Amino acid sequence: MKVLEERIIKDGQLLGETILKVDSFLTHQVDYQLMKDIGRVFAAKYRHEGITKIVTIEASGIAPALYVAEALDLPMVFAKKSKNITMTEDILTAQVYSFTKQVTSQVSIAQKFLKASDKVLIIDDFLANGQAAKGLIEMIEQAGAQVAGVGIVIEKSFQSGRQLLEEMGVPVTSLARLGRCENGEIKFLEADA
Ligand code: G4P
Repeated sequence: MKVLEERIIKDGQLLGETILKVDSFLTHQVDYQLMKDIGRVFAAKYRHEGITKIVTIEASGIAPALYVAEALDLPMVFAKKSKNITMTEDILTAQVYSFTKQVTSQVSIAQKFLKASDKVLIIDDFLANGQAAKGLIEMIEQAGAQVAGVGIVIEKSFQSGRQLLEEMGVPVTSLARLGRCENGEIKFLEADA
């Protein structure tokens, strides 16, 4: 997605060779116009796939996921990283290990929001090692629902996430694919859309 790559070049900051800071338009402050464009691109790709629900994980997946949901006129559900007191019903859970934070946390979705008849498109802001997406896939499968694919805004192609998800049989669509960045230069591989 050309406008996304241009925005990453313009406003993204490399922290070392492996971390990309995009807090001015994606992970902290959010550019709704860009999210709207992202929503349209994923919608164009998945419009005829019979998707019934968009699923993401809090926090930074919510903005792009909501615009995909709007473009496809579908509900969006986000997995919670902590259980709050109103979550009294049956829940689907998964353990997600973060390589960045080096902690395992339990994420959850209320069972009532995923049905066996659902066909789900997962959307997330970053794909690094794929642990968050793997946890979401596990919960969707616990519900007996089907995963149609994973849509990613920024894939870090030098990490193992895409390979893990493809080995699980889940297709990945990434709008920007970041290669290893040496000498402070941001490099992209060919994106999927
Ligand atoms: P994984 O799910 O692909 O295995 O990712 P990993 O554990 O490595 O990353 C954990 C968190 O760090 C995730 O957000 C992920 O989106 C984020 N992250 C990974 N690499 C980068 C990067 O280069 N830049 C930025 N900005 N974020 C990165 P999270 O902890 O779930 O955060 P949030 O969504 O609640 O903000």
